[in-house]
Amino acid sequence: AKDKAWSGRFKEPVAELVKRYTASVDFDKRLAEFDIQGSLAHARMLGKQGIISHEDVSAIEQGLAAILQEIRAGEFEWLLDLEDVHLNIEKRLTDKIGDAGKRLHTGRSRNDQVATDVRLWLRATTDDVIAGIRGLQASLLDLADAHSDTVMPGFTHLQVAQPVTFGHHLLAYFEMLQRDAERFADARKRINRLPLGAAALAGTSYPIDREYVAQQLGFDAVCQNSLDAVSDRDFAIEFTAAAALLMTHLSRFSEELILWSSPRFGFIDIADRFCTGSSIMPQKKNPDVPELVRGKTGRVNGHLVALLTLMKSQPLAYNKDNQEDKEPLFDTADTILVTLQIYADMLRGIKVDKAAMRAAASEGFATATDLADYLVKKGTPFRDAHEVVALAVRYAVEKGCDLSDLPLAELQKFSTQISDDVYAVLTLEGSLASRNHIGGTAPEQVRLAIGRARQALA
Ligand code: ARG
Repeated sequence: AKDKAWSGRFKEPVAELVKRYTASVDFDKRLAEFDIQGSLAHARMLGKQGIISHEDVSAIEQGLAAILQEIRAGEFEWLLDLEDVHLNIEKRLTDKIGDAGKRLHTGRSRNDQVATDVRLWLRATTDDVIAGIRGLQASLLDLADAHSDTVMPGFTHLQVAQPVTFGHHLLAYFEMLQRDAERFADARKRINRLPLGAAALAGTSYPIDREYVAQQLGFDAVCQNSLDAVSDRDFAIEFTAAAALLMTHLSRFSEELILWSSPRFGFIDIADRFCTGSSIMPQKKNPDVPELVRGKTGRVNGHLVALLTLMKSQPLAYNKDNQEDKEPLFDTADTILVTLQIYADMLRGIKVDKAAMRAAASEGFATATDLADYLVKKGTPFRDAHEVVALAVRYAVEKGCDLSDLPLAELQKFSTQISDDVYAVLTLEGSLASRNHIGGTAPEQVRLAIGRARQALA
C-alpha cells in the first residue's frame, strides 16, 4: 500500500474488498493511449511555462513513449493495487525516470485528467461511428439502386396500404441514418473541449497555458468553468442518446428484415452466413443477426438510462460516481460499431424475391386510393370518391377478387364517371409512377433521391 499515490494520509491499508470495489483499471486501461497523449501535452505545457525543466520534459516524453510501446506490445503489467489507468502509468513512469516522473502531475488532478482521457477517446470513437454509419448508408444505397422500381406493398398498421418501391422503402432508412450521423457530428462539437487545467475542481495556482494544451490535443476550445469541466458527463450522455436513436432505427429495420425473410412474407432471403440453425428443427434458418440488433437496442437504451441516472442529482464537483460512466459508454460504442459493420455486410447478402413482393402488393386493394384520386380528377369531391371506392372495395371483398378484376359495367355501377381508362390507374406501375414529386415513391424520384444521397455521402 506504500506504493499508492495517496497513502500518506492513511493509517492502514485499504481493505482488500474495497480495493477491488474502487479500482477501475480493469476497464479504464483502454484509455491508456489517450492518457499518454494528455500527459505529453500537459508536460510540454509545463515545460513551455517554465514550471518544470526542459530536461524533465524530455525524460517524460521518452518514458511515456517507452510505456506506450510496452502497452501496445501487451507487456505492460496493470496492477489493481494502483487503482486506475492514470496511477498505473504514472507509477511506471516514475520507476523508469525517477523525479521527472513525479513532476508530471504538477498542476493536474486525476479529475481533469480522466475527463480529458474520456473526451479524447470519445472524439476518436465518434469519428469511427460516423464512418460506420457512412459505410452502412453506402451499402443501403447499392441495394436501393438495384430496386428503384421493384414493387412492394407499403404498409400502415402492418396492412397493405399503397404500393411503394423497395428502393423508396430502403431510402427511408438512409434518411434516418443521415440524421443519426448529424447527431453524432453535433455531439462531437461539445465532446471536443478541454477539461485539463481545471485540476481537482478549482483550477491551479501554476501559470498554466490551457489554450496551448487544447491546441496540442486538437480540442476546439477549453472548458470555461473548472467545476463544470471535471464534473459533468453530459457529452457522454449525448453520445449515448445518439447511439440509442441509431439502434432504435436499426431495430425497426431489423424487425422488417425478420418479417420479410419469414416464409409467410418471403420477400427477401438473408445470406446463410448471417443466420443460424436450430439444434432440434432441421428446417430452420433463423435471422439471428437482425434479432440480436433488435435485442441489443435494449442494451444501449439501458446504458443511456444508466448514464442519466448516474449524473442525476450529483452535487458539484467531481464524485467517484463518475467512474461508473466508462463501462456503459464503452459498451455502447462497442455495440454500435460492430452493429454498423455487420449490418452493412448483411445488406450486401440480401436477395430479393420480386415476384413475392409484387404478389403481396397486388392483394389488399393497394390501389384503392388511386381509384379515388381518379374520380377526383373527373370532378367527384374527394370525400364522395372515398365513399364510392369503399363501396366498390366492399363489393370486391365479397366477390373475392381485386378491383381490377371487376368488369367495367360493374365498376360503373359505383360511379358513372368511371370509364375504360380506369384500368391503367388500378395497376401498380401506374400508382407508383403517379407519385412523382420530391419525397414520393415514383421510380424516377427514387433514382433522383439516390443521386442526391450519393452526393451527400461523397
Ligand atoms: N478512476 C477515476 C474515474 O474514473 C479517476 C478520477 C479519480 N479521482 C479521484 N479523486 N478519486 O473517475
